Amino acid sequence: MKSKKSVRKTAIKSPSIVAKLGQVTAVIGAQWGDEGKGKLVDLLAQHYPIVVRATGGANAGHTIYVTDKKTGESKKYVFHLIPAGMLHPKAVCVMGNGMVVNLKTLLEEVEILEKAGIKVDGRLLISDRVHIATDYHKAIDLRQEELKGAAKVGTTGRGIGPAYADKISRVGLRAGELLDFASFTKHYNSNLEAHTKMYGISHDGAQELVELAKLAKRFGSMIIDTGVFISSCLKKNKAILMEGANGTLLDIDHGTYPFVTSSNASIGGIISGTGLPPKNLSSAIGIVKAYTTRVGSGPFPTELNNDLGEAIRKKGNEFGATTGRPRRCGWFDAVATSYSVRVNGLTGINLTKLDILSDLKEILVGVAYEYKGKKFTNFPASVVMLSDVKVVYKKFQGWNSDITGVTNFKKLPLKCQKYVLALEKFIGCKAQFIGTGPNREQMIVR
Ligand code: GDP
Ligand code: IMO
Ligand code: MG
Repeated sequence: MKSKKSVRKTAIKSPSIVAKLGQVTAVIGAQWGDEGKGKLVDLLAQHYPIVVRATGGANAGHTIYVTDKKTGESKKYVFHLIPAGMLHPKAVCVMGNGMVVNLKTLLEEVEILEKAGIKVDGRLLISDRVHIATDYHKAIDLRQEELKGAAKVGTTGRGIGPAYADKISRVGLRAGELLDFASFTKHYNSNLEAHTKMYGISHDGAQELVELAKLAKRFGSMIIDTGVFISSCLKKNKAILMEGANGTLLDIDHGTYPFVTSSNASIGGIISGTGLPPKNLSSAIGIVKAYTTRVGSGPFPTELNNDLGEAIRKKGNEFGATTGRPRRCGWFDAVATSYSVRVNGLTGINLTKLDILSDLKEILVGVAYEYKGKKFTNFPASVVMLSDVKVVYKKFQGWNSDITGVTNFKKLPLKCQKYVLALEKFIGCKAQFIGTGPNREQMIVR
């Protein structure tokens, strides 16, 4: 199926894709994360030489598979903090001010890339306004989860919530402060003392400060005012890709609060987390899995708590790229995804993992919710309500044939085309990209 001809035919051509999507494109998770953002970012980064991550921290895990041209073997990369454009040697990657960054985790990631022969220095920039996530933030994260007991969020344990809490409480440590390490040390110690009293955590601050001093030297030259850099790229008409993290339904404002992450994972975070003027954003592509997954606690109306859910998890290899936790699996939820289309003003979607549904006899799509006898299609704010809704489904016939690697929409079985066209209609957004496998070239571009 994967003839050279079809691959060449659908390879994204720079002028046409940039002309189609515009100078600045955002890639946004439109469900509960892990939709396949990394793959599209990697694919587009060959034509968008500036790739900017706006929000989140090492809670993210963006996976990319690259086929080695010589051996034909597929190599896997997982990006947690570094933007997923790094595999393209000409790309410059920016960690925007909206992120929370643990520098030890960053170093581990940099070393993995360097071992694979990928040059990082000179290609990675860190905003001086980025907040530093420390190891005591991780300890607080675990403590808070412990205290919540059965009501725990199911966080990734990376200290994300506590690092953002410090930011919002106006006591956070910022990357720019590392450049004056004596003053950083004072600030660090005073925060640690306050947190130790409040949460009863025990943490070796002196040891972490020794590590941070080394890390400040390693990364110091990368810490700049990235807003100025982005602005100069805009003036030079360079194409810029904004890489979202997590997912819209995990957004602190628009997600299934309190079962969310602690930043704006939807379109607003792209603007506030980078300093990009909103008028410069040309398009927003939502990443949408052809079914639904979720890691951690919280309501999931179309969840399949049965053998079918287990089969999808197995076939789709639905295990967290960051924590390895099994992902909960369920049917496509058109109510939730339409909400995402609205909140983000999506201009198109990348429907991913369509190939995973290939051997199902029938496929269901949640098209409305019912609560206390009332039917509706607006995604509700209340998690109490969401946990108790009855989903109204529409049934589709499966296509029962392998579509792995198909790169032309018309080559998809008719029943599969019908499924895609129906999803587009339900959510009111075109599938500009359709994923038919984890590798770069396994993508339909329309
Ligand atoms: P992200 O966090 O949104 O970047 O997504 P993850 O990397 O956490 O999880 C998505 C998984 O699906 C990764 O293992 C990808 O390699 C894989 N993937 C992405 N698109 C496709 C696709 O169209 N088909 C298949 N089979 N796998 C895909
Ligand atoms: P990517 O970018 C999937 C979930 C966690 C948990 C909740 C809060 O790979 O799509 P946190 O550690 O952020 O305080 O956890 O949010 N979560 C994600 N789930 N993909 C992600 O990122 C996620 N980032 C956070 O599982 O339920
Ligand atoms: Mg992920």
